[in-house]
Amino acid sequence: MSKLPNVEFAVRQRYSAAAHTRVDALCCPVEYDQNLLAAIPKEVLDRDYGCGDPSRHLRRGETVLDLGSGTGKICFIASQVVGPEGRVIGVDMNDDMLALARKHQPAVALNVGYSNVEFRKGRIQDLALDLEKLDAELRSHPIQSAESYLAAELRAEELRVRHPLVASDSIDVVISNCVLNLVEPKSKQQLFGEIFRVLKKGGRAVISDIVSDEAVPDEMQNDPELWSGCISGALTEEGFLSAFAQAGFYGIRILNLHMNPWQTVRGIDFRAITVEAFKGKQGACFERNQAVIYKGPFKEVLDDDDNRMERGKRYAVCDKTYELFKKAPYREFFEFVDPRVPVAPESAAPYDCQRPALRHPRETKGQDYDLTTKPGECCDGGGCC
Ligand SMILES: C[S@@+](CC[C@H](N)C(=O)[O-])C[C@H]1O[C@@H](n2cnc3c(N)ncnc32)[C@H](O)[C@@H]1O
Repeated sequence: MSKLPNVEFAVRQRYSAAAHTRVDALCCPVEYDQNLLAAIPKEVLDRDYGCGDPSRHLRRGETVLDLGSGTGKICFIASQVVGPEGRVIGVDMNDDMLALARKHQPAVALNVGYSNVEFRKGRIQDLALDLEKLDAELRSHPIQSAESYLAAELRAEELRVRHPLVASDSIDVVISNCVLNLVEPKSKQQLFGEIFRVLKKGGRAVISDIVSDEAVPDEMQNDPELWSGCISGALTEEGFLSAFAQAGFYGIRILNLHMNPWQTVRGIDFRAITVEAFKGKQGACFERNQAVIYKGPFKEVLDDDDNRMERGKRYAVCDKTYELFKKAPYREFFEFVDPRVPVAPESAAPYDCQRPALRHPRETKGQDYDLTTKPGECCDGGGCC
């Protein structure tokens, strides 16, 4: 059994150096909005180690968390997209990267006319632990014995609970640019769990990263240079999407996949991808007699709860699913059938998941529905039939 190198150590060393001098091998050319780059100092732009642009999927007023913010470029772009009523938090574990980002933050605030960005020190697979607070604790209680080591672990746990670096359910959009692949394999699942934890219900992740078309073999995973160069830790295209699903996300889709590989190593293609995934399908299901019709173009689709829907048929859904389907990314694929007599949320019964999948039109209209209308009343604006 081969042994993985100390991934985090290799990553820390490489990005400390890359904070001081630009490293071309770590950069995958990305076209950012030139108007938004104008407010950002050259030293930040020179140390661009991204592979995509999640910031173009943000909206005004949103609270955004950027994982592995580096010198802050994506945070500074995001700051302008979300505007003064929005907020941006960058998290990085590397002191040199944080120092550079913090050094330029006041200049960017001056250029854009407001200050809505802050940088925090943490590991993205452990977003509850504030490493600067832990540093302070360890300075006043240095580790000198096994006992003080165990006490430090307890203090770290206390910090996670009492003063989390990023609180649960507090973020509208988690973004990241070329960082998730750098997290060691044993922490990858925890990383996706952390992204899920910090998002508000209804929030979303928009993540740009590097993926491979085949699994990366052990020999390549043992190479620290390939690790810190965004190669060895890449998940496969399929594995990347599954990691979101396993963490509880829904509505997962590829926003961008560069078919031209960024790099090919021993026949394996590594390319940039941007994925969007939503949080919020968890929760109770109530029956309010609603139905949805999948419009196509595919003959059938399977949703994230394994419900299969054929094109053109009316499917019974619970109120929670009905409301989810009315929002992005589903809304354009469905028509929505409300019951003729609405069921108030207070009087709705729990949804029976064993009921037939299809909803007969009589269920939404009522068994005694007997209306006859004149032609023309059925069409938008009238007179079209
Ligand atoms: C490839 S650079 C990307 C930087 C930035 N997102 C950009 O677009 O230029 C990776 C960054 O992630 C940080 N990083 C890597 N692993 C990390 C981890 N586990 N926790 C926090 N930051 C991490 C590194 O320190 C570095 O700043």
